[in-house]
Formats: sequence, C-alpha cells, structure tokens
Amino acid sequence: MSQSLTIRRPDDMHLHLRDGAMLEAVLPETARHFGRAIVMPNLVPPVVTGDQAAAYRDRILKALPEGMAFEPMMVLYLTETTDPADVAAAHASGLVKAVKLYPAGATTNSQSGVTNFQNVRHVLERMAEIGLPLCVHGEVTDPAVDIFDREAVFIDRVLDPIRRATPGLRVVMEHITTEEGVAYAGAGDETLGATITTHHLVINRNHILAGGIRPHYYCLPVAKREKHRLALRRAATSGDPRFFLGTDSAPHADHLKEHACGCAGCFTATNTLSILAHVFEEEGALDRLEAFTSLNGARFYRLAPSEDCVNLTKGDTVTYPTKIETGAGPVTVFDPGFALHWRVTP
Ligand code: NCD
Ligand code: ZN
Ligand code: ZN
Repeated sequence: MSQSLTIRRPDDMHLHLRDGAMLEAVLPETARHFGRAIVMPNLVPPVVTGDQAAAYRDRILKALPEGMAFEPMMVLYLTETTDPADVAAAHASGLVKAVKLYPAGATTNSQSGVTNFQNVRHVLERMAEIGLPLCVHGEVTDPAVDIFDREAVFIDRVLDPIRRATPGLRVVMEHITTEEGVAYAGAGDETLGATITTHHLVINRNHILAGGIRPHYYCLPVAKREKHRLALRRAATSGDPRFFLGTDSAPHADHLKEHACGCAGCFTATNTLSILAHVFEEEGALDRLEAFTSLNGARFYRLAPSEDCVNLTKGDTVTYPTKIETGAGPVTVFDPGFALHWRVTP
C-alpha cells in the first residue's frame, strides 16, 4: 500500500549555494523542493556588507531557472571590522535575516572570521537590540583541543559566555553534532535555536573512517560517535520547536574532496527530503517531519510558514543521480547507504 504525506514546503535554514558555475548547478537541486533558504556567506571573498549581500542575492535570483520559485534569505559574514550600522541597515531593509559567526580557521572559507570575540561585541549588542539572529559555527579552533571535542568545548568557552554577555541576543547553533549541543540548545530559552543536518542523522564517525576513508562523508563539524547521532535523531524528531532543519548542503567539486587534503562538506540537496522521510519513519515520527522541516525554523526566524505544500509518497526505490555535473566539475551526491523509498511528488 502506498503511503503519502503532505507537508508545508520546507525551508533550509543552513545552505551553501556558492557562486558562478557551481551556483547555477546546485541551486535547482534545492529550489526543486525548498521554498526558502538561509544562504551561507562563506564565499571567496566573503559576503560582509549589505551591498555585497544584495549583489549575491541578485546573482542567485538570476541563476534560478525559469518557472522555479525560491527565496534566498541573506546572511552577513561577521568580521572584526564589521560595521554595526551597515548590519542594522541591511536588516531594516529586509535584505538580511542573520549574521554568521565563523571562528577564524574553523571551517571552509573561515579565514576572515573572528579571532578575538571582544572585537565584535558592539556588533552583537546591536543585533540583540534589533532582534537579528547570530548563526554560529560552534567549534573552537585551539589545536590542543581534539577535533571530536571542539563543539562541546566551544559551548563552554565561547558560546555560553557570549550569550551571558549579550542578553537578548538570538542565536542559532548551526549544524549541532553532539549530545552536549542537543542538551545546551534544549535547555535554552526562546532566544536559542539549533539546526541539524540530514547527514548527521545518518552517519557517525565510523562511516568516515572504518573500512577505508570516505571523503564524501567528511564535513565540519565532523560526525561523532553513535550516541551523538542518536541524540540528534531524538532532538530532530521530538517536535521541540528549538530544533530545525539546516541541511548544510555544501558542494565541493569531487577532485577537491578526493584529495590529499580534502575539503569539508556533504552535498545533500538532491535527496535530503527522501532521506529525512526515511529517518522520521524509522523513528515513528512522520507526523513531526513538517515541524522539523517547515515550521520550527520559520518560527525562529519570525517568518510565516510557507503557504505552499509538497507531497511525499512511499513506493519503489527512488533513483537519483550519484553526481551533479557542474561547470566546476562533478559533485557527488550524499549516499545515505540505504535505499530510499520516499519521493517528492508534485
Ligand atoms: C561548509 C562549506 O563547505 O562551506 N563545510 C562543512 O563541512 N560544513 C562550511 C560549514 O558549514 O562549516
Ligand atoms: Zn559550519
Ligand atoms: Zn555550512
């Protein structure tokens, strides 16, 4: 018997669209299923000012194929020289929905990020006043801290002190990967939210390292032990409004992933909804999929939920390309390691 489910059109609250030829190739993969996305600003050079965000938004809309509707929600990349007045103006005009904090050196294209958090205090204070969310890549960069501990240490050393020093600051803990992240977000008040990716609900660190090294499963924050994956699954499927989908779909051309020093990022835009339906069904939580993909994030960002819907139908094995061709080279689509049966239908 075929099963089907209708949900509000999902929002991706953490997405990398890149630029140029890569943007053109990956944008339809998201716009086919998602109505809106919080678009990450870690381009080279980064999207720092309101003018740069407006120009990037124009490039995204220009790359959108005819007949597809999609709203890119722009984000400014926080640097130690960010001007609070520019941030406030970009927010007031409706252009910018968040500011992104990258600890310098923590992840892909984070070199222009923050080293000394004192130098961004005045920006954060202004954001707290105007209610503009701060999206945080939550990992310390201290080389003495083990990479599997960097998220938990960040919460204690950086995130909690920032939140205490800046009352009212609205924060999204991006792509949480640990039970410590789940616990901290779950204990927060209404100023705190957390995104969870599709791939962190599916893989643990064994998938990256056991039986051969799998560069297409390498992302940051790196997938952790199984107990952390299970904590993420419980959070995502709980219906708790603080947890919402941010796929962190992060395309890199295959030759840069399959490399002696491979790039971090999993490209999941193509099959994310099929995977999520599978995961939520396994957890007996299909009735909470819509909250995770389409309601909780919109609520955090103070947006009305989408008025549009998508249908998911369970049937024969879903086929999808293993790679997307882009002008910058092929990009491998995330392989969940199991057959998918939920397809998105009009
Ligand atoms: C992201 C990217 O490639 O831009 N990579 C990743 O592994 N998640 C950056 C990020 O979100 O940290
Ligand atoms: Zn990140
Ligand atoms: Zn990301």
